[in-house]
This record gives sequence, structure tokens and C-alpha cells, in this order.
Amino acid sequence: MRKKIVAGNWKMNKNLQEGLALAQELDAALKGKQVNCGVVIGTPFIHLASVANAIDTEKIGVAAQNCADKASGAYTGEVSAEMVASTGAKYVILGHSERRAYYHETAGILKEKVLLALENNLTPIFCIGEVLEEREANRHFDVVKSQVTASLFDLSKEDFSRIVLAYEPVWAIGTGKTATAAQAQEMHAFIRNTLSEKYGEEVVENTSILYGGSCNASNAKELFSNPDVDGGLIGGASLGVDKFMPIIEAF
Ligand code: 13P
Repeated sequence: MRKKIVAGNWKMNKNLQEGLALAQELDAALKGKQVNCGVVIGTPFIHLASVANAIDTEKIGVAAQNCADKASGAYTGEVSAEMVASTGAKYVILGHSERRAYYHETAGILKEKVLLALENNLTPIFCIGEVLEEREANRHFDVVKSQVTASLFDLSKEDFSRIVLAYEPVWAIGTGKTATAAQAQEMHAFIRNTLSEKYGEEVVENTSILYGGSCNASNAKELFSNPDVDGGLIGGASLGVDKFMPIIEAF
């Protein structure tokens, strides 16, 4: 049975004190509570160590939102996968559309990042998704397929089985416009199919594929009820426990 996961992506929000307070509030809200999914929070780099120290990381996995495509060395301002892992973080969000679009992360760069994350025992949450024009031109399946194949299909079966995917249609991110449950299911089933052809059904049955894009307390239940939607990657609605908790409880 693949894992259900609700992951928050704080993006570039919350200073250290605010982030720590949010993490601790979530930790307290989850204490003694039986939830039916894994919970992850993706914080800015500088929060990782403090957050990982302050919460029960068995209950809440900590994720970075990026890592370098190089192992170490003279890369001023970069943060390596090894450094991320040394904070106590267990996950790293890679290939987010904001990184692809604003920081020009190519499929080749992302491939390196995935390898380094895996080498350092981090679970990549690998994001894929089409922009509006691509969907309107009916190219969304091709786009998503090529994002997956270009960055992940050189992985061994064993390495691939450690990846979590997140389908985030770019037109749904931060727009308040969610994919319908049917659109999400259709794409998730397509992704699972594409992956199955390469890695076999057994591996892919265990691959979690999350949905992201204006997911909130009111639409989470319907989105998560789809057989191929294994949870969510949540932006805006992860910035407050009052909004994030009901999404976790949608499972
Ligand atoms: P929103 O939930 O704010 O639309 O963001 C989704 C996202 O980009 C998560 O990575």
C-alpha cells in the first residue's frame, strides 16, 4: 500500500521565529491525534535545523524546498543535499514549477539534484505539471511525460522506488483555480501508467503521487478520494494550522 502524504510548501514565507512557531503549533495539534497520512512541512533552508529540533520528526517530516546540483565546493550561496540531510530534514522538494520558471532549472539539473538527494537519503518530492497554454493546446500529457522521463528515467528501480511525485498544474498554483477531481485523477492515472511501463506495476503501485495547486480544506476530500491521488502538496493553505489541519484530516 502506498503512503498517503499531506505536505506543506511554505515557499518564501515566515521568518525564523514565525516558522518555528507554526511548526510547533502543528506539532502540538498533532500530538496524541491519530491521522491517516504522513505529514511533511517544507520550510526555507534556514529554518530546517531549528524546526527539526523543535518537533517530533517521527510525526512530521521536514523538507527542504531545493538543494544544489553539486555535492560540495565553491558554489557560493548554494546548499547541498548533504547539508540538508544534516539538519534532520528527510525530504526535499525538487523541480517545483517556480524553480523551473524563475531559476531556470532544467531537466538535466534536476536529474543531478535527484541523484544527490537520494545519495544523502533524502526523499525527493519531485514536482511536474503543465502551464495553461500547454493544457489548452492539449499537450499536457506530453509535457508531464517528458518532465518525468527526462529527470527520473535513468534511475534504477530501487532508487525510483524512493521518489514521491507531485503533480502541480501551474495554472492551479496560487490562483484559487483547482484542477477538478476528474482532471487530477486523469493525469495521476496517466503518470502512474507512464511510470509502470518503465518500472513495472509492482514498484509503481507503491509510488505516492500528490496533487498540488490551490488545494484547501474545502476541496481536499474530493481530490484525495480519487484512487490515484495519494495526497497533496499545499502552498498557501499550509501557512496556518487552522487551514492545514483540516487538509490532513481529509484522509
Ligand atoms: P498553492 O497551494 O498556494 O496553490 O501552491 C501549491 C504549490 O505550489 C505547492 O508546492
